Amino acid sequence: MNLPLAAFRPGTSDMLASLCKAGGDPLRLQILRVLANDSFGVLELAKIFATGQSGISHHLKVLAQAGLVATRREGNAIFYRRSLACPEVLGGVLHAALLDEVERLDLAAAVQQRIAEVHAQRAAVSRDFFARMAGSFQAQQDLIAGLPQYRDSLLGLLDSISFAAGACALEIGPGDGRFLPDLAQRFAEVIAVDNSPQMLDIARQHCAARGLENVRLELADALQGSSLSADCVVLNMVLHHFAAPAEAVRSLAGRVKPGGSLLITELCSHNQTWARDACGDLWLGFEQDDLSRWARSAGLLPEDSVYLGLRNGFQIQVRHFRLPAVTTIDSSHRKPSQ
Ligand SMILES: C[S@@+](CC[C@H](N)C(=O)[O-])C[C@H]1O[C@@H](n2cnc3c(N)ncnc32)[C@H](O)[C@@H]1O
Repeated sequence: MNLPLAAFRPGTSDMLASLCKAGGDPLRLQILRVLANDSFGVLELAKIFATGQSGISHHLKVLAQAGLVATRREGNAIFYRRSLACPEVLGGVLHAALLDEVERLDLAAAVQQRIAEVHAQRAAVSRDFFARMAGSFQAQQDLIAGLPQYRDSLLGLLDSISFAAGACALEIGPGDGRFLPDLAQRFAEVIAVDNSPQMLDIARQHCAARGLENVRLELADALQGSSLSADCVVLNMVLHHFAAPAEAVRSLAGRVKPGGSLLITELCSHNQTWARDACGDLWLGFEQDDLSRWARSAGLLPEDSVYLGLRNGFQIQVRHFRLPAVTTIDSSHRKPSQ
């Protein structure tokens, strides 16, 4: 490969050297591995690797200086994620190759166990919120983005997809169930899964009041051991409550029948930290590219999307991902994060 002359100027070779240095430590490689499909704060990483916080901070600083990780503020916490490689710039090819190789590393069982504990802690925060706030759910939800604000766009997208007669829909996290009548009208069978008994009770009342006979409600964690699958899986304002969103997309992709669709309505990335306390949000929205990348690595194809700006400054993304009739998993993301 012909490197431009500029590559040999001290500044540019420093940059390459810092990339090599960052990759030259087993713990830093393990950190890159666990960040493959997730983002973690310093304290979480310290717990995952059973290492002091200052040691982890040092390693993250080296990785950040080499451009291998980037930060994102989420409330008071700073989360670290992997930076995407840019093959056109000097070091980009090495960066991409390093991330690719890192994905082949196995994680020790103890590390996997502690990642699961971090996820469980995050999930408990979300469950507690819905147990406490079910009664005032609608008011809380409307503070940011309630169904009326995106319902027409979501239905527009849904109605542009053709489903066979007799198709089945699965709504994850229906909340108070306000979208279920729309699904019940369009699908032969609708299953709704929520892990909050309080929210499910409200949804049940909503369905009973509207006489929806083709809707079945199930109390369950949508991400744990179920074999339910559907032609259309719908997820409205739920992904930001999941402990590990990339893994959740992968798991939900597994619920889509071949040729079927996953519809995700979500907030775009934002800085409104109060949403954590007011609405129990674990994540402050998502970058559009992240959703696409997670979906692709789960074997889904990004289709049409709609983006809506709200008067309160929030932006909503209504995304359609399709599972091809014959699934192909993006080989650049061979392993899911643990
Ligand atoms: C913000 S509400 C969204 C409700 C509704 N989809 C809407 O847009 O109005 C999130 C819902 O997801 C549910 N939820 C969160 N984590 C879940 C999980 N792991 N499995 C099933 N439901 C979950 C919550 O109980 C809550 O009902």
